Amino acid sequence: MAPITIRSVLISESVDPRCRAVLEENGIRVTERPNMKTEELMAEIQNYDGLVVRSATKVTADIINATDNLKIIGRAGTGVDNVDVDAATKKGVIVMNTPSGNTISAAELTCIMLMNLSRNVPQATMSMKQGNWDRKKFMGSELFGKVLGIVGLGRIGKEVASRMQSFGMKTIGYDPITPPEVSASWGVEQMSLEKLWPQCDYITVHTPLMPSTVGLLSDETFALCKRGVKVVNCARGGIIDEAALLRALESGQCGGAGLDVFVEEPPKDRSLVNHPNVISCPHLGASTKEAQARCGEDIALQIVDMVKGKNLIGAVSQTFLVFAPKTLPK
Ligand SMILES: NC(=O)c1ccc[n+]([C@@H]2O[C@H](COP(=O)([O-])OP(=O)(O)OC[C@H]3O[C@@H](n4cnc5c(N)ncnc54)[C@H](O)[C@@H]3O)[C@@H](O)[C@H]2O)c1
Repeated sequence: MAPITIRSVLISESVDPRCRAVLEENGIRVTERPNMKTEELMAEIQNYDGLVVRSATKVTADIINATDNLKIIGRAGTGVDNVDVDAATKKGVIVMNTPSGNTISAAELTCIMLMNLSRNVPQATMSMKQGNWDRKKFMGSELFGKVLGIVGLGRIGKEVASRMQSFGMKTIGYDPITPPEVSASWGVEQMSLEKLWPQCDYITVHTPLMPSTVGLLSDETFALCKRGVKVVNCARGGIIDEAALLRALESGQCGGAGLDVFVEEPPKDRSLVNHPNVISCPHLGASTKEAQARCGEDIALQIVDMVKGKNLIGAVSQTFLVFAPKTLPK
């Protein structure tokens, strides 16, 4: 792979200090300027070869097209929803993310959602704070012996499976790419979605958001589930159709939902958040000190590896094909 020269990087958000340290240790000049307005970023970006963001900076086509100097946009996190990858690809700018830095944190939050759905801890806490002592209202059920359906058996799906197996849950799943023998080796029996839906007491989704996963849980698929099924979405808003979920909660077809992500963030329509059987978080899957430190360090190391022509990890734009025809990202 041909080395790419990166002399200067702009960090436009609060990213773990390890990011700056690693870049500087490798001779790259770093400027941190959080909270810039779009116009300020468009002017400032002219002076840098690289840009590092988390999720607040919207790297639009206008920003990408405002400079001919930019060579790389690094996102310290999983996914590149806030970067216009097509515009970057057209302009020859590499877009990178840190796909594994958040895995454990997102998996742990998913497990916390599953546990809270079984025992109503958030609702009981709110009731206690209001001065109540209501023991009947919050009767729960054990996770032990229940069936957990995991749709999407990648990094996070796998970690969720092993953790929930320790609670005695039976884990079944579906993934079009992960081979059944591989998921079987970590205790997840794969089957078609038609077979999976009616067996599950709990369902958690861990796929990317793309046309084939939008509305994986919909009116049609909720109807195939066990009455009272509980669902978790700590992946991306829209994988569970929000309007269908509300209808299923109201009819009792869905017994509860744990949501970390929404189609619109923050959601203007609060019907789901306000539903008594919904527990929710403001997209906190990656919000741990450990995940942020890992992602900050990972993005810096990935940029340095690329500069040294060693490796190209986490690249999502097609640009890498121009620079490194034999180096495919994992
Ligand atoms: N809440 C958060 O803050 C947070 C943090 C990290 C990741 N995420 C999200 O979690 C999701 C999973 O992340 P990951 O790191 O495990 O990704 P991954 O790429 O490791 O795994 C995704 C899996 O989904 C599978 N898949 C694709 N299409 C599918 C389909 N139609 N049906 C079933 N499976 C399908 C893929 O084959 C892959 O194995 C992503 O959407 C990611 O953006 C959210």
